[in-house]
Amino acid sequence: MCEDAFCKIILIDMYVRRPMQYVGLHFYFKGDYDMEDKKPIIHLEKLGKEFKTSNGPIKALDDITLDIMEGEIFGIIGLSGAGKSTLVRCINYLEIPTEGDVFFEGKPLSKMREQEIQGVRRSMGMIFQQFNLLAQRNVLKNVCFPLELIGTPKKEAEDKARKLLEMVGLGDREKAYPSQLSGGQKQRVAIARALATDPKVLLCDEATSALDPNTTKSILELLKTINKNMGVTVIVITHEMAVIEAICDRVAIIDKSHIAEQGSVGEIFSNPKSKIGRQLIMGDQVHVRDFGGPTTRMVRIIFDGRASSEPVLANMILACKAPVNIMYAATKDINGTAMGQMIIQLPKDEVEEKRMINYLNSAKIPYEEVTENDL
Ligand SMILES: Nc1ncnc2c1ncn2[C@@H]1O[C@H](COP(=O)(O)OP(=O)(O)OP(=O)(O)O)[C@@H](O)[C@H]1O
Ligand SMILES: [Mg+2]
Repeated sequence: MCEDAFCKIILIDMYVRRPMQYVGLHFYFKGDYDMEDKKPIIHLEKLGKEFKTSNGPIKALDDITLDIMEGEIFGIIGLSGAGKSTLVRCINYLEIPTEGDVFFEGKPLSKMREQEIQGVRRSMGMIFQQFNLLAQRNVLKNVCFPLELIGTPKKEAEDKARKLLEMVGLGDREKAYPSQLSGGQKQRVAIARALATDPKVLLCDEATSALDPNTTKSILELLKTINKNMGVTVIVITHEMAVIEAICDRVAIIDKSHIAEQGSVGEIFSNPKSKIGRQLIMGDQVHVRDFGGPTTRMVRIIFDGRASSEPVLANMILACKAPVNIMYAATKDINGTAMGQMIIQLPKDEVEEKRMINYLNSAKIPYEEVTENDL
């Protein structure tokens, strides 16, 4: 199948048709987020998806319950194979869940007729890592494509496409073909195309994974602008915590088909509860070195905005008159609030160790004890 036909099937599938199986083809730090006055635009209720394969069933999603609120930027992060793309394809019913349900603006998709589902699907624009532009069509005609599929008159479709291209910063490139564009420009065209049907939600599946850091930054800024100015709810699927930090209000961490944890980006970043959360946030930066002798206790100090403005560690060392070993430290400015954590090894001397714990308690500095297994 040529690339254009391949992209067309995906697009027609997204905007018009029922989900199909493509045999042999794989298509397939803000601070605390204020949930008050927000209502869910999407609710997933005990969602599950099992694929039947010749090697037996594969449970790609299990017991996924979450709310995505109107107007927010929601991140879904996980390692490769965790189930992220399957989740996004279940959200727009390109993949029918085998358990549970998806609610769009309070209505269950399982109870909708095909026409209604198509309407919901049009309310959810989608962008991908590989852009999926039609190579034989110029930029303007790529953006017009979903409008053509729903029978929009040509002139109206072109006027709308031009406005969208202007908005994504490509007003002067409407005649260019995809092969003449950079990766970042291709993604801008894909964003304009995804917005053509006036979606309420924009689903972004690894939309910046093929881009360099500077281009990633500019695409994330564009998504943020679209969210703010057009009120479009944005769902960002990624395996990079930096993407979540840059634009998301809330995040769900998905691990081996399950939600490991979810919450505001600030909460999750400053105090990840799950092992996968710590792994994604801290990466492989934490190595427990062997200093000889018995292993000493380690604590994770949580910088929650309040504590980060104080020289916590320096004060503690001065007060306790004993050194500590810093195993890991990371604080970040997430939408104006500093968040982060530091893992320190306490002194071997029991009295000094106790003094430090007492200091943390009396100074009301959030901390928790960690073991090597938690790192
Ligand atoms: N159509 C399918 N048929 C069979 N198994 C599938 C199908 N689609 C996905 N899977 C399986 O479901 C699991 C989750 O896949 P999915 O593509 O959702 O992961 P992902 O988190 O998006 O990974 P990546 O970060 O690599 O894109 C994997 O084990 C995958 O092999
Ligand atoms: Mg994926």
